[in-house]
Amino acid sequence: MEKVNVDVAKLEKEFETRSAEDVLKWAFDTLKDKVGFANSFGAEDVVLTDMIAKIWPKGKIFTLDTGRLPYETYEVWDALEEKYGIRIEPYFPDARCVEDMVKQHGINCFYKSVDLRKLCCKIRKIDPLRRAFAGLDAWITGLRRAQAVTRTAVHKIEIDEANGGMLKLNPLADWSEKDVWDYIKKHKVPYNKLHDKNYPSIGCAPCTRAVKPGEDIRAGRWWWESPDTKECGLHKK
Ligand code: ADX
Ligand code: SF4
Repeated sequence: MEKVNVDVAKLEKEFETRSAEDVLKWAFDTLKDKVGFANSFGAEDVVLTDMIAKIWPKGKIFTLDTGRLPYETYEVWDALEEKYGIRIEPYFPDARCVEDMVKQHGINCFYKSVDLRKLCCKIRKIDPLRRAFAGLDAWITGLRRAQAVTRTAVHKIEIDEANGGMLKLNPLADWSEKDVWDYIKKHKVPYNKLHDKNYPSIGCAPCTRAVKPGEDIRAGRWWWESPDTKECGLHKK
């Protein structure tokens, strides 16, 4: 990875008044094949897939397939590839590491403690993310400020200190949930059918449940933990 030589503070201000498409255009024009989009197939990420497929169809889009994703996530993955004629690169966990963890701690060890949950997220998501970063100087995510107490300070461009100082772009940082759904409907973007069953935020199947009316949008993620531990380590400061 090379540190990108841009004035992040200046761009951060500039991007506040620019559209998500403008931020993506800047990213692909400036960074070309050194930027990749991390796609979890959530509502925000299908929006970004639609935009990227139109702006830079050869742009790198990758996903971390933990091996525990819901069936509906594979359906939308396939539907997006079909609709846009793109390929989304999968990164799988190291088979040996998964085998060792399951042998030692059990197949659903993430329910037993926060530490074991974090170990599972490390093996199934963080380590594959490191591999996905090879050759990249920047990554794009679907993070929004309104998603969680842990995300209120998200900028459209930032230096990702937790990942060696690479650039991180969050083009939808200032979007509301309504903005996301208006875009999906307007552009007829394929989306994860679990969203129709009260799953606003979707991760691995055993760690995601539907939310009840009035509950926080991330209440269904690692629902047995308290809100301030609910990050898997992908988005550390
Ligand atoms: S998480 O950290 O709690 O899992 P969330 O599901 O809200 O994150 O997704 C936030 C952003 O992280 C997504 O928009 C996407 O860019 C990235 N992300 C999360 N999970 C994955 C995944 N499995 N593969 C690729 N990117 C992901
Ligand atoms: Fe493991 Fe759950 Fe993290 Fe998925 S979300 S990697 S199953 S602990």
